[in-house]
Amino acid sequence: MNWFSKALIFKVLSTVPGGAALYRHAQWKWTKSIVATPNWVGQKVDVGMSYLNWLLEHGYSLEKIRTMRHLDLGTGWHPTIPLLFSRIGLRDQVLADVNPLMTGDTFLDALAITNGLLGDESHPARKYLLDTSIPEKPPESELDKLLTRYEMAYHAPYFEWAATTGQQIDFVTCTQVLMHLERPILDGCFKLVHGILKPGGLFMVPVHLFDIYSNSDPHISVYNHLRYSRRFWKSVVSSDMMTFNRLKSPDYRSALEGAGFEIIEFHVDYGTEAELQALRSLEIHPEFLSKYTNKELSEKHLFFVARKP
Ligand SMILES: C[S@@+](CC[C@H](N)C(=O)[O-])C[C@H]1O[C@@H](n2cnc3c(N)ncnc32)[C@H](O)[C@@H]1O
Repeated sequence: MNWFSKALIFKVLSTVPGGAALYRHAQWKWTKSIVATPNWVGQKVDVGMSYLNWLLEHGYSLEKIRTMRHLDLGTGWHPTIPLLFSRIGLRDQVLADVNPLMTGDTFLDALAITNGLLGDESHPARKYLLDTSIPEKPPESELDKLLTRYEMAYHAPYFEWAATTGQQIDFVTCTQVLMHLERPILDGCFKLVHGILKPGGLFMVPVHLFDIYSNSDPHISVYNHLRYSRRFWKSVVSSDMMTFNRLKSPDYRSALEGAGFEIIEFHVDYGTEAELQALRSLEIHPEFLSKYTNKELSEKHLFFVARKP
């Protein structure tokens, strides 16, 4: 779909009462963009494995990880990463989102597909599972009961919980959420995460830096967003339903430092040769040229791990 039409649809739906609910209905029934599939859930299992592998490679034993209190921030519809961690043996997980998107059905969809993938004897997660036998389907379908069975709490929205919980969390994962947060909200989010982590606690984040509209519009470059002014983007493209912040790695770095984090991993991926070629022929808006170096403009993904001192 043309990216600009898509942004305008979000803009119009944001102003209509019930527009967000209408869009979610369309995502389930028509575009099916949020229906759990083995491919989609499998990608999230891989992200979960990348968090686990990072911890194992940085001195955390499996036994230690099993005792850690995990917060998954911005869980969305499918709690795939918490379900993977549950099979690994984590017994105290908190799931949080600004929107209460998860339901009993979406939980069960993610559970069935995750368990199906982990049933494959060659899956790299198998050696870390507490029990490799095929789990039985839970008898309940209500979200509250499922969360209790899998030793998870769900807060959506989560601001009240975060304000009163204290320094309780050992590590926070936040998968492809932050590119939807404008800078002041991002700063507030980082301070909130810093506030609920125990001293020494970790904040682990993969975030896209490329134009997320290019996922659904094959006619635009992954750097298309660099063509537009801040004013145009704010007034015409962004809406309450869909924000893409267009931030680059230096912005995330300064937000982390401003919140008091110590950065211990900060890995940036760049475009392919063909994408960089497309970037060279793009008319980049002067606001971007004055703010970032050419190398920063070519960033596509960021993975960081930050520690609360
Ligand atoms: C692209 S989805 C990612 C969902 C999930 N983490 C995944 O990887 O499938 C973005 C999620 O971030 C949530 N979100 C947006 N702003 C947020 C905020 N300030 N704090 C926490 N979650 C937020 C949205 O409600 C949505 O569930």
